[in-house]
Amino acid sequence: MYCTRKVQNDLIWVGADDRRLVCFEGVYGVPDGVSYNAYLLLDEKTVLFDTVDKAVYGVFLENVAHALGERKLDYLVVHHMEPDHAATQELLLSRYPEAKVVCNAKSLAMMKQFMGCDLTERAIVVKEGDTLETGRHCFRFLMAPMVHWPEVMMSYDETDKLLFSADAFGSFGALNGRLFADETDFFAEDIDEARRYYTNIVGKYGPQVQAILKKAGKLEIACLLPLHGFVWRSHVGDFVEKYLLWSSYAPEEKSVLLAYASVYGHTENAANILACMLCERGVRVRMYDTSVTPASYIVSDAFRCSHLVFAATTYNAGVFVTMENLLHDIAAHNLQGRKVALIENGSWAATSGKIMRELLAPLKNMEFYEQSVSLKSALAQGQEEQLAALADAIASEIVPAAPAQAAAPAVPAPDAVDKKAFNKLTYGVQVLTTRVDGKDYGCIINSACQVASGEPKKLSVSVIAKNYTSEMIAKAGKFNVSILTEEAPYSLFQRFGFQSGRDTDKFADLPYEDRTANGLRYIPEYTNAVLSCEVIEVKDLGASVLFIADVVEAKVLSGDPSCSYSYYHAHIKPKKNPAPEQKECWVCKICGYVYEGAELPDDFICPLCKHGKDDFEHVVPVQKQKQKGWVCTICGHFEPCEGELPADYLCPLCKHPREDFERAER
Ligand code: FEO
Repeated sequence: MYCTRKVQNDLIWVGADDRRLVCFEGVYGVPDGVSYNAYLLLDEKTVLFDTVDKAVYGVFLENVAHALGERKLDYLVVHHMEPDHAATQELLLSRYPEAKVVCNAKSLAMMKQFMGCDLTERAIVVKEGDTLETGRHCFRFLMAPMVHWPEVMMSYDETDKLLFSADAFGSFGALNGRLFADETDFFAEDIDEARRYYTNIVGKYGPQVQAILKKAGKLEIACLLPLHGFVWRSHVGDFVEKYLLWSSYAPEEKSVLLAYASVYGHTENAANILACMLCERGVRVRMYDTSVTPASYIVSDAFRCSHLVFAATTYNAGVFVTMENLLHDIAAHNLQGRKVALIENGSWAATSGKIMRELLAPLKNMEFYEQSVSLKSALAQGQEEQLAALADAIASEIVPAAPAQAAAPAVPAPDAVDKKAFNKLTYGVQVLTTRVDGKDYGCIINSACQVASGEPKKLSVSVIAKNYTSEMIAKAGKFNVSILTEEAPYSLFQRFGFQSGRDTDKFADLPYEDRTANGLRYIPEYTNAVLSCEVIEVKDLGASVLFIADVVEAKVLSGDPSCSYSYYHAHIKPKKNPAPEQKECWVCKICGYVYEGAELPDDFICPLCKHGKDDFEHVVPVQKQKQKGWVCTICGHFEPCEGELPADYLCPLCKHPREDFERAER
């Protein structure tokens, strides 16, 4: 019995789930199954996009027959020749002898290789940019070599903005009835299998994926239709963003992958101790025994984590086989830009550390910790210190620095805290200041919030992690919050918000140098209160750092209303002036008289110099080419960019991350 789902009125999913497959491509375990997606379009012409693996050919053929009804099949579009999508081509084409095969030259050659038959007579061979009109729809073909084989191509429907993306944007896991990604809690429940699919299937080809993402970035995409996994009809950008990140090899999170290979448990013991030490230091650890967990899962987390620790025993004068396989696999997938620590073990001649390093060293931008740990059979008395030193080194790069001066709980001086100062807090804008080594730092925030009203009162501020002020507060352990009023001029926002304290003294030329009792500067103008705080807790929020602090001093500076974030956007941030409109006109070449309009009558006589139409020049305003890009919602900086901004992009003015940008055309 057929089992299909409607993608939209004229497009039917005719694929199938496979839950009996043990290993996809013979190597990647798929405990949750996998789907082979194929789609049938019912336009004036009928088009089948790809076929399926032979394991599910029965239901697939029923699906196609049911979806077609009485109609014949006009075209089979072949995006990818790997047999999980092409194994049933021959059978399909024998059932529908009138169907033409739409493919590129590489696919045509592979058809002969796989099936032993020459389909040239039935083929419509397409190349980059060629189109296929099917009635209401018009498909444009985009070549996507090495995503994941050289013949791969995609189809873009100019009409409904559908992108048939072949293996790209696929995922492991059977659909289980949920055709669309919005029918599951994808980013909570399914993202791991999507990452494992990406990293293992196309992870090696990051530059090629980036190339097709660049092409796709120029397209309006309403729906992504991959050959495995969910169809994306909403939040397409969220998933594309993941692909941008993965294909750049940038880690998804600051965390540690700890993989170990242990024969009798001693190497495992050292790995466990290190894991405990890392967790005690606030580091997130993902840990695997390479003899138990299949490599594809560990490779996937190697792409995810910023730091990698490998611990392995020496075996046959080499490195233990499961670790050796894993590292070969990681190298084969071209991982790059990670910080690596190694723990070796050997009872008489430990060589595993050297070999592990040799396997990973050729990869691009891999850095190794000097603190490698060498065990002789087992962790010896005193070697915990080596592990602790390694844990310290790793944690110092992952966990925001503990506040240098967060010692005893702050005890505010009597009457130092004016409670009325808290009444000035709104969802507004503030200047955050601190001081390290005799230098003052500051930035604009919109996050100051009272989080506890007991004594001492507590305030939290969140600051962009890459913002220099954030780094300085972590060192200083204290900060001031000056609450801005509606009178604050835009220049104040430019001063503290649109430049970096790394290379600029933001306080230069200010006509005042007011400080609170803690020695930090505050802003006495255009502010209505200042709160002095001592940091008691630091939380890594990924792109931002949250500082929770005791308020040790608070004073009201004026009765002016606080500047809310919306007030800033509505009344302080400058509005762009629309460019004056240019009109089509005719200009007299003799006297300069301007006749507005597209058409100048043949018998027109210049009212000034009395010359005729022949002496007029037709002026057509040049249609200003709009430039595509991204605009920073914080400071208004416009970044010309056709596609997506890089995952680690920071606004050059205000240093906010790309999450604070929105698409714009100027
Ligand atoms: Fe899903 Fe590359 O095949």
